[in-house]
Amino acid sequence: MTNLDITEKIKTLAKEKDVIILAHNYTRPEVQDLADFVGDSLELSRTASKLSSKVILFCGVYFMAETAYILSPDKTVLIPDPYAGCPMADMITGEQLRKLKGDYPNAKVVCYVNSTAEVKAEADICCTSANAVDIVNRVDSNDIIFVPDKNLGAYVSKMTGKRLILWQGYCPIHAMIKPEDILRAKQEHPSAKVVVHPECSLDVIALADAVRSTSGMLRYVKETDAREFIIGTESGILYRMKKENPEKQFFPVRRDTICVNMKKITLEKILNSLEKDEHRVTVPEDVRIRALKSIERMLM
Ligand code: 13P
Ligand code: SF4
Repeated sequence: MTNLDITEKIKTLAKEKDVIILAHNYTRPEVQDLADFVGDSLELSRTASKLSSKVILFCGVYFMAETAYILSPDKTVLIPDPYAGCPMADMITGEQLRKLKGDYPNAKVVCYVNSTAEVKAEADICCTSANAVDIVNRVDSNDIIFVPDKNLGAYVSKMTGKRLILWQGYCPIHAMIKPEDILRAKQEHPSAKVVVHPECSLDVIALADAVRSTSGMLRYVKETDAREFIIGTESGILYRMKKENPEKQFFPVRRDTICVNMKKITLEKILNSLEKDEHRVTVPEDVRIRALKSIERMLM
């Protein structure tokens, strides 16, 4: 079957079974093209909380599908590959966070949405890369624990002037990007603007013109007058950038910044998922209720 045939089959089945397909900006081009909605983590959470379909088929990594279930437990949430995980989300467990909270009993906990439901359940409030600075500004405490991303935490600390207690997690894909990569790309494209994701380290961020979430990057490149952009994030974002701005040029800081987990979501697996109603994503109810509070405080 060609991609076109599979896409047609998926669309027919999705209609029959009342399924809405959500996809993250890093997924494969053919997956983005077929999705009902493509966005960053914050947009996808907001969308998932408002849908009226019976089923949400989530094309992204596991914590994103889990967040959709936490917000909409009355719906069936499916992920085409249950092994599409986020290594950063697995860098802290609920147990480890409970221990850290014990060390700082007066601290409030801000948890990046790239985390497990169990970790969200231990937090006071969630954030995404799009709203992390605003959320930390909103937290009324002198002691703030920020988990699991040390890089996003360091960036937020710099932007808010608040000292954060950081967990040492990180995204292995963004960690590949080094200052020398930016300097080389700038030399090759001297008139390009540099935009990076806040999961990059502070020394990379220091060399950028803008720091944005994935959808924030899409808005930035559209609204900025420059014709050329150097992009410091997972390379899947370039597909949408080129599609939405055919007159502009985009250069990845490195060609190998590929999140293999996002790419695990293929058309074949989406079709299989729809045909077999698998793989269902759920969260134990006691954990869900507590994680929901952290997510709802973020969405308020
Ligand atoms: P966004 O929230 O910016 O889409 O980022 C999600 C992510 O996993 C970045 O690596
Ligand atoms: Fe996780 Fe990094 Fe992949 Fe984003 S790019 S899903 S943070 S591993």
